[in-house]
Amino acid sequence: MLSGKDDEALLALKNISFSYKMRKGDRLLIFDNLSLNIMFAEFVGIAGPSGCGKSTLLRMMAGLLKPDSGEIYFRGRPLNGPDPRISMVFQNPTLLPWYTIIKNVMLGLINERELTEKEKEEKARTFLDMMGLIGFENAYPAELSGGMKQRVAIARALVSHPDLLLMDEPFSNLDQLTAITLRRELENLWLNQALPISSIVLVSHDIEELVEISDRVIVLTVRPTKVAGIVKIDLKRPRSRRSQEFYEYVDQIYTLLS
Ligand SMILES: Nc1ncnc2c1ncn2[C@@H]1O[C@H](COP(=O)(O)OP(=O)(O)OP(=O)(O)O)[C@@H](O)[C@H]1O
Ligand SMILES: [Mg+2]
Repeated sequence: MLSGKDDEALLALKNISFSYKMRKGDRLLIFDNLSLNIMFAEFVGIAGPSGCGKSTLLRMMAGLLKPDSGEIYFRGRPLNGPDPRISMVFQNPTLLPWYTIIKNVMLGLINERELTEKEKEEKARTFLDMMGLIGFENAYPAELSGGMKQRVAIARALVSHPDLLLMDEPFSNLDQLTAITLRRELENLWLNQALPISSIVLVSHDIEELVEISDRVIVLTVRPTKVAGIVKIDLKRPRSRRSQEFYEYVDQIYTLLS
């Protein structure tokens, strides 16, 4: 069945409902008939009140959680579990402490059985280079700063050449300067045609961050969560936070959130 293949969405969520099973058989309803699309070559920001289900939504998009009802289509086909073409970066970089940096990045290639260890190492090195981490290949995660660890996590997410990169507040634990630099680098990587990645979904509490980097921002409501509105950001890149237009978009999103 290829019925999800409408409007050329990279990822389509159709009439998704989801609840967590609580103790004593209660259910916490998170999504009730939610639909949204992530298009090809699109940078989508997601904003919403704390606890509305943004992380839950990303886990569903990654195939890590199954909706109770409704369908998820990836490239027009039902998504029934994790897919190597979809990568995720979490708020806290989840690196294996007993593996070197290069080995951690090579974990992103775990499904590529036709590659030799040497080939995996070469690929990992390319992405470490892209993230400015050459020289740290043989270091261990504990020897790196928070920003560097997040760079490793991004390198690991990219090394498998995913079509879709899902990011759950990846900059929120970093100091402001590191966050600004990393955000810019990510934007440039995505704009750079050489990188195979098609679309990025970024969850953030930082509305300015979302306006700076997104093509569209999907604003969610409180639970049960629906789409409060979608704001298309029509500003040239790189975007300046100083313009009045920039703050008009920021205000528009705050209005939808309140
Ligand atoms: N594994 C779980 N079991 C039961 N309830 C859960 C589970 N994970 C999350 N929840 C609940 O589901 C709701 C949505 O959680 P989620 O983490 O998706 O929200 P969020 O929008 O990412 O929040 P935040 O902005 O604080 O990161 C919350 O009320 C949370 O307590
Ligand atoms: Mg969350």
